Amino acid sequence: MEHLMTLPQLIQHRKSARKFLDTPVSRADVEKIIACAGMAPSAINLQPWEYVVTHGEEKDRLVRTLHKTHAMRNVSCGPGTEKPLPDQFSSRAKKAVKAMKPQVAKVDPDFNHFIEQGSCAFYGAPVAIIVAMDKLFPKIRYLDVGISIGYLFMAAEDRGLATCPVGLITEYGEEIKDSLNISPEKEVLLGIALGYADETAPENHMKPEREALDKILTWYE
Ligand SMILES: Cc1cc2nc3c(=O)[nH]c(=O)nc-3n(C[C@H](O)[C@H](O)[C@H](O)COP(=O)(O)O)c2cc1C
Repeated sequence: MEHLMTLPQLIQHRKSARKFLDTPVSRADVEKIIACAGMAPSAINLQPWEYVVTHGEEKDRLVRTLHKTHAMRNVSCGPGTEKPLPDQFSSRAKKAVKAMKPQVAKVDPDFNHFIEQGSCAFYGAPVAIIVAMDKLFPKIRYLDVGISIGYLFMAAEDRGLATCPVGLITEYGEEIKDSLNISPEKEVLLGIALGYADETAPENHMKPEREALDKILTWYE
C-alpha cells in the first residue's frame, strides 16, 4: 500500500464515514492498524485499551444483536451530560446537525431516525471494532484509550480506509459483551466502523467545521 499523504494531510482529510462499500478489508490491514493503535502512549505504559474486531459472519451476528436490542430499547443520541451544555458547546452540536441535515435528507427524510440509528455506520461497515477497558481502571484512563483510538483513525486513513466512531452502541454494552464473550469486568467504550467509504453517498459528504484556533488555544508568554 502506497502512502500518499503526509500526516498533516491525513489529519485534514479524515472525516467520519457513514456509508461503506462492500469491498472487503484484509485481516493484515486491520492488524496493522490496531498495531499502530497499540503504539500510543499511556500512563506508566499501562496500555489499558482492548480492541475486539468483528468481521464477516461474526459482524453480522453482532449487528443482529444490536438491531434486536435497539428495537426493544430505543436510545437517543446526546452529549451524555446530566446538565444542559453551556451555549459554547451546544451551539457546536447544533451547527454539526445543521451541516448534516441536507445530506442526510437525501437518503433518509426522517433526520431523527438517522440520529437514533446512529449505529447505522456500524451496521453497514465490513469491519466493526469494539473498544473496551477493564472497569478497575479509573475514568482518567479513558484518556489513554482515546489517544490510542486517535492513532487507529490515522493509521486507517493512511491505508485509504475510513472510520466512524459510534458512541451510541455503548448503550448496548451489556448485550455486546454477552454476544462477544467480553468479560463483565470490562466496559464497552466505543464502537468503530471501518471500511472503504462510499464516496458517492450523501451521508459521506459532510464535514463539520472546527472552531478557529483562538477559540481553543490560550497562549501566554
Ligand atoms: C466518542 C465519539 C462518539 C461518536 N458517536 C457517534 C455515533 O454514535 N454516531 C455517529 O454517526 N457519529 C458519532 N461520532 C462522530 C461525530 O459525530 C463526528 O466525529 C463529529 O461530528 C465530527 O465530524 P468528523 O468526524 O467527520 O470530523 C462520534 C465521535 C466520537 C469521538
